[in-house]
Amino acid sequence: MGAVDGEGESQRISVRRVALCWRYILRMKAAIHIRYGAPEVVRITEVDKPKARDNELLVKVHATTVNRTDCGYRAAKPFILRFFTGLIRPRVRVLGTEFAGEVEAVGSGVASFDVGDRVFGYLEGRFGAHAEYVTIPEDASVAIMPPNSTFEETAPSIEGSHYALANIRAAKIRRGHDVLVYGGTGAIGSAAVQLVKSLGADVTVVCSTENVALVERLGADRVIDYRAVDFTKDKQTYDVVFDAVGKSSFGRCRRLLRPKGIYLSTELGPFPQNPILALITPLFGGKKVLFPIPKHDQEMVKYIKRLIESGDFKPVIDRQYPLDQIVEAYRYVETGQKIGNVVISVA
Ligand SMILES: NC(=O)c1ccc[n+]([C@@H]2O[C@H](COP(=O)([O-])OP(=O)(O)OC[C@H]3O[C@@H](n4cnc5c(N)ncnc54)[C@H](OP(=O)(O)O)[C@@H]3O)[C@@H](O)[C@H]2O)c1
Repeated sequence: MGAVDGEGESQRISVRRVALCWRYILRMKAAIHIRYGAPEVVRITEVDKPKARDNELLVKVHATTVNRTDCGYRAAKPFILRFFTGLIRPRVRVLGTEFAGEVEAVGSGVASFDVGDRVFGYLEGRFGAHAEYVTIPEDASVAIMPPNSTFEETAPSIEGSHYALANIRAAKIRRGHDVLVYGGTGAIGSAAVQLVKSLGADVTVVCSTENVALVERLGADRVIDYRAVDFTKDKQTYDVVFDAVGKSSFGRCRRLLRPKGIYLSTELGPFPQNPILALITPLFGGKKVLFPIPKHDQEMVKYIKRLIESGDFKPVIDRQYPLDQIVEAYRYVETGQKIGNVVISVA
């Protein structure tokens, strides 16, 4: 009897092992949301693991971020987003735009990446990085990670710098320019300060008292504490005013601009006037608003990689959460007080 019982038990164990293996091969953990709303609509569950198509990499995600784009898509704010993401329910259930991880498999047509490569990339529009695995076409916004950097250091390097770079390139910021960055401590602002400095321009940063030392470390030539003074009354004028937190307006910042100065903002504006001003103001040849539509590609990721390697750019990391605590991460990002980036450890 004892031997038969022992055999039955070992068969049950083998079946369990096979089931676990299949689960490992076919399923993965992900943070999903099936309706729009507050951070609590997000839950951790198991979903099907994606498969790499012929031109794609399957990446095991080690680190990702929760950023303002994820918050906007999760909550469907502004409402207009629903016309792109699903009117009643979100079409994309797994968010997450940035990732750093390891290539686990490659499609038959992939030539430039190999299994085991440490890569980082950007998935805006596709999303999916709040999961154990993502797929990405080999010619999309993905590149080999800078050497000697960790997954957690690298994952937050793209979203903020991508928005900063789009604005910097639109305004053609270069050596000799005087640039004011309003809100130099968010993901976009802290990247903007470093990227503007890397181009040789002079940068004045507006931030709160507690963050003065941080923005000086990032390269600020001059700092204005917005809690102590109204930065719009500054005596100096600028070639470019970049509002990286979207809390000012062209009207308020106009007098800070030189005769052909440029105003940039990461937000539409309360009315929402910035895209409209970007169409009208360039027609008059004086001070103008630009509102570029950011585009991302592999060149952009490689550019960021070079800046990390040269030491010109290092993403600022505020807090780090495990994937299981992603709801907490969302709550924190939505305070509007994060410094730089909030990283999620996945592996
Ligand atoms: N255009 C797009 O498609 C797009 C995409 C992503 C994000 N965004 C927008 O871009 C903005 C920035 O996002 P983010 O993730 O970089 O950062 P964020 O989370 O919005 O910014 C947080 C930082 O902003 C600072 N801040 C808050 N109020 C401020 C004020 N009145 N003046 C100066 N600094 C202030 C805070 O520091 P203190 O403690 O110093 O206040 C904190 O460090 C957001 O409005 C976001 O919605 C736009």
